[in-house]
Amino acid sequence: MTEILNDICPLGNHLQHYWDRLSREERKMEFDEEGLFSLTPQKVALEIADNTAGNIIVDAFCGVGGSAIGFALKGKSVIAIDNSSDRLSMAKNNSEIFGVSSLIEFAQGDCMQILPTLKPDSIFLDPPWGGTDYGNITEFKLSNFEPDGKSLLDLSFSITNSVVMRLPKNFALDELNQFNKKYELQKNFLDGQLLHYCVYFR
Ligand SMILES: C[S@@+](CC[C@H](N)C(=O)[O-])C[C@H]1O[C@@H](n2cnc3c(N)ncnc32)[C@H](O)[C@@H]1O
Repeated sequence: MTEILNDICPLGNHLQHYWDRLSREERKMEFDEEGLFSLTPQKVALEIADNTAGNIIVDAFCGVGGSAIGFALKGKSVIAIDNSSDRLSMAKNNSEIFGVSSLIEFAQGDCMQILPTLKPDSIFLDPPWGGTDYGNITEFKLSNFEPDGKSLLDLSFSITNSVVMRLPKNFALDELNQFNKKYELQKNFLDGQLLHYCVYFR
């Protein structure tokens, strides 16, 4: 049987670069533009899941589910939050494609409101970077995340010591020292290129 080639990004040429880095399986997922350009490629999502402590994980910004599916594929139970009902429903559909929907509970709303009601082992934070132009900022700061990264980290530390955050490769790494907490930094590569960092506060 001939395999149908889906090498052309269905959301337009301007996002082709993001499409190219997906596997054939990932290309079966449902996306909108933001969901596609902000998706954690599965290879990287699995690395993050391997390095994240505990079995109950809150993914506070689930998008179309790239990271949440990675945690679930590693057998973790996930509470996946997003304030977009559309993306949350795409994430549900995508978790079914990968056979992990039973491990993920989906919650729609503002994570700043929902997080204080939860008691997970770890919190994973992947707030928006302000669109595809984030690379034009010389030094990406915590205040460039939406919502503000410092408020997010302070809130998360009031819930658990184990907090993981995805950081763009132009992030001002010095900013991580202000919390007086131990952390580990992971470089995440895709096809030999540095994609971004992940910080693991333990
Ligand atoms: C960078 S994307 C997450 C990508 C995801 N980690 C993945 O791999 O597919 C950020 C998501 O955060 C959501 N978001 C933005 N502000 C939010 C908030 N206050 N509470 C919950 N979700 C929010 C956006 O709708 C967007 O889908």
